[in-house]
Amino acid sequence: VPRKPDHARKPTPAGRLSRRALLASSALGAAGLAVSSGPQARAAVASPGERASVEPFAGPHQAGIASPRPSSLVLAAFDVRSAGSSGLATLLEDWTGAIRDLAAGRLASPADSGETIGLGPANLTVTVGFGPSLFDHPFGLGGRRPAALEPLPTFPGNDLSPLSGGDIVVQACADSELVAAHAMRQLTRLATGTAALRWIESGFAPPAPPAPGPPRNPLGFIDGTGNPAVGSRAFRSTVWVAHGDSPPWLVDGTFLCYRRIRIDVRAWDALDRAGQQAVIGRAKLSGAPLSGGGLHSPLNLAARRANGHLAIPVDSHVRLGAPDLNDGATMFRRSFAYENGLDAATGVADTGLLFIAWVADPTAHFTPVLTKLAHLDRLNRFTTHTSSGMWAVPPAPGAGGWLGQGLFG
Ligand code: HEM
Repeated sequence: VPRKPDHARKPTPAGRLSRRALLASSALGAAGLAVSSGPQARAAVASPGERASVEPFAGPHQAGIASPRPSSLVLAAFDVRSAGSSGLATLLEDWTGAIRDLAAGRLASPADSGETIGLGPANLTVTVGFGPSLFDHPFGLGGRRPAALEPLPTFPGNDLSPLSGGDIVVQACADSELVAAHAMRQLTRLATGTAALRWIESGFAPPAPPAPGPPRNPLGFIDGTGNPAVGSRAFRSTVWVAHGDSPPWLVDGTFLCYRRIRIDVRAWDALDRAGQQAVIGRAKLSGAPLSGGGLHSPLNLAARRANGHLAIPVDSHVRLGAPDLNDGATMFRRSFAYENGLDAATGVADTGLLFIAWVADPTAHFTPVLTKLAHLDRLNRFTTHTSSGMWAVPPAPGAGGWLGQGLFG
């Protein structure tokens, strides 16, 4: 598996906006902003501080998966309330129009609450997926359920909330918390009468470090090093459902595997650095494997220390997750940290990871690894899984089409 730094976000420099960004900004004008047309408008759009970066919505894949990881996430699940599949199809069509508008920096509709006016699109992406329970509704969609779409198992030590799963998942990511939250608010409004929020979470990723590379997670460790590099052959085969795979409506789509994982930061912070490194199997500062080398050196799973012990401990997180010891299983992790106030029961801050992995085949690439980690990982002493979900994520719609359209064809 090629190892490469995570994407380094490059803000669009003032005065060098893409055509799409310019269109988006002039669309903001059309939506009621005081942006005039002509050269003056361009000057206004390109002024320093203007955040007009646009992540393309057009396919073949939905945005928000291979897109650079932005600073903010709002993740929510919806349950469908209406009786017929036509209501669901209309909702998905309405959502697609709104997502196209929002991602381009336009308001979602005249009824848009508008609290983001002036912020620009901020690299907004909105990604939609369908959970196992959606196919249990009496819509006639049961026969279209992907075989691999199953709720993830519960393991000893999990404390899974009923606020898990959900018929539809929506992941809104942006470089502005408000822009991501606003997108979710608009989709929630448009769903009124058809689907209702089941749960909602928000998360954050640290800003891209000065040197390109993956960011650190709440443990303080660099996270994402073992991911296949975006755009590589390994990435494509890990993430995208291939042509010829089943069901046809999911080709160029993927699966989102989700765990909300609380970290006992009090216990973690009581551990010295050597102890923490033994849990993960990598060095904290450099991110290098404990078998030696640098951040992007491969794990040497056979390496031993002078005392004969394995350099990457037998129950360390990276050894247990390593593709070489999991029949080659790879996943693409794009997680966000969360902070949720105080856990009154323990007096410890409710902090952790909104763990998100994208895989083309969860039964081969995700669930077996999760199962192994659940039983053996030394990291479990510090973590509790509190929510879970799996959704099938359709491809991006073609021009004029809508998300999930193939499901109804
Ligand atoms: C709080 C929860 C978790 C934390 C803090 C965490 C942290 C990390 C860190 C620091 C690394 C090493 C750097 C890297 O390759 O990204 C890593 C690697 C990895 N993690 Fe996790 N992880 C968590 C949960 C999970 C879960 C639930 C899974 C899968 C079910 C998972 C799968 C993996 C895999 C496959 C690797 C790469 C192993 C390799 O090939 O080197 N992690 N994780």
